[in-house]
Amino acid sequence: MGRIEEALKKAEELRLKKIEAPARGKQNQAGRPAVSCQSPGDISATALDNASPLIVALKECHSPAAEEYKKLRTAVLKQMAGNTEKVLLITSPENGNGKSCTSANLAVSFAALGQEPVLLVDADLRRPSVHKYFGIDPANGLSEYLSGKTGTQEIIRPSGIGALFIITAGTPPKNPSEMLSSERMRHFISGLKAGHRGAMIIFDSPPLLNAVDSIVLAQQTDGILLVIEAARTRPDAVKRSLGLLKGLPLIGAVFNNVPEYLSKTLHPYYY
Ligand SMILES: Nc1ncnc2c1ncn2[C@@H]1O[C@H](COP(=O)(O)OP(=O)(O)OP(=O)(O)O)[C@@H](O)[C@H]1O
Ligand SMILES: [Mg+2]
Repeated sequence: MGRIEEALKKAEELRLKKIEAPARGKQNQAGRPAVSCQSPGDISATALDNASPLIVALKECHSPAAEEYKKLRTAVLKQMAGNTEKVLLITSPENGNGKSCTSANLAVSFAALGQEPVLLVDADLRRPSVHKYFGIDPANGLSEYLSGKTGTQEIIRPSGIGALFIITAGTPPKNPSEMLSSERMRHFISGLKAGHRGAMIIFDSPPLLNAVDSIVLAQQTDGILLVIEAARTRPDAVKRSLGLLKGLPLIGAVFNNVPEYLSKTLHPYYY
């Protein structure tokens, strides 16, 4: 049985157990001070304050959940070891499976390596949320670039967290699929690769089963991670997603929000 099939089987077992997950977003214990894994001086106090507690890779970097993101980082690096260009797409079958949470944590986890720059791009032009995770202004992002209002350099913002740079989605447009399918988008991706050699470029994206956006993006990326929400994503949704990703560089699945870990903290899990 392949690893993705194993993940699928485990997801179904959990879903059938109908384990009730505790309220989301409560993995930080009240009163526990935020501890960053970045070296002192590599992170601004504002960035640390503004970031969501869900970015455990930043706020609780020695927690079991943060360790899982480090494992995920290692697995991604291994899978993409032969790639000179590292554009990673994070997607999932449906809404709310944890794409943005995974993207934010993985990006911070990569930045903590302190090696190559990391770019986190919010390519979910429909329900953008990367800016919420980092507590930053969403204005002037990818949609402004794609509509020709601004250039690439103007939308790349330092995050205040090591060498992590963020591109927000900007103002949600009326035609997200067309924008992401455009020549300008292809130009944007090739420009990012050319301008940031060796960088890890992570794209957060909309769900696969709701729109063509992620498939369009998947065709331009070097690796794809499929986020499966434990106890919620149904096997048929995963199977349909795998069908859509056939022939594209799927490197693994992230098993998010795993109930047995929830009592301690919330976890991703990589297959
Ligand atoms: N590992 C996790 N631990 C705790 N909460 C989580 C986790 N993953 C996701 N959530 C919660 O689930 C909700 C959805 O997560 P997230 O925004 O990452 O999903 P998404 O797949 O990006 O959603 P959308 O399809 O709307 O873009 C958020 O409110 C977040 O708080
Ligand atoms: Mg999202």
